[in-house]
Amino acid sequence: MRTAVYPGSFDPPTNGHLDLIVRAAGVFDRLIVAVGENPAKSALLTSQEKVDLLREVCAAYENVEVRPFSGLLVTFARSVGATAVVRGLRAVSDFEYEFQMALTNRALDSGVETVFMATSADTMFVSSSLVKEVAALGGDVSQFVPPAVARCLAAKLGVRAE
Ligand code: PNS
Repeated sequence: MRTAVYPGSFDPPTNGHLDLIVRAAGVFDRLIVAVGENPAKSALLTSQEKVDLLREVCAAYENVEVRPFSGLLVTFARSVGATAVVRGLRAVSDFEYEFQMALTNRALDSGVETVFMATSADTMFVSSSLVKEVAALGGDVSQFVPPAVARCLAAKLGVRAE
């Protein structure tokens, strides 16, 4: 059985993440969506909120599990029997950071391979940071995130969900 981990900070989960999850779940036997922390970013949602939202939006996909993790990604991947880490590439601008991360992870554990998947054309511009900015300024984010996420953001930021 081929197990892959799809890690991210998911702050918040977007339709771009969901698109990747659905396509990666079609390629691997088991996909673990791993909610981690990126020390370079300050989070709006708690890890538990992200896990709950992702479990809700991934409920229809039987081979997808959602789990929080802390510490090194490769250690988590090993602990769940994963041999691959899936990352989405939206544009050339993602590449440098993703390439560095892939090579660092390979240097830490050569048994965990990074697999890049291109996002779909209609979500390639969607980013969690811009979704947060639009939501905080009272804009409608319903075209960028699943409905449960839009409701959570509205509640969190004290604005009205569309
Ligand atoms: O969605 P993001 O913010 O790009 O996700 C980044 C994440 C959480 C996958 C990355 O920061 C990560 O793997 N953190 C775990 C710590 C780790 O293993 N660091 C070394 C990897 S280069």
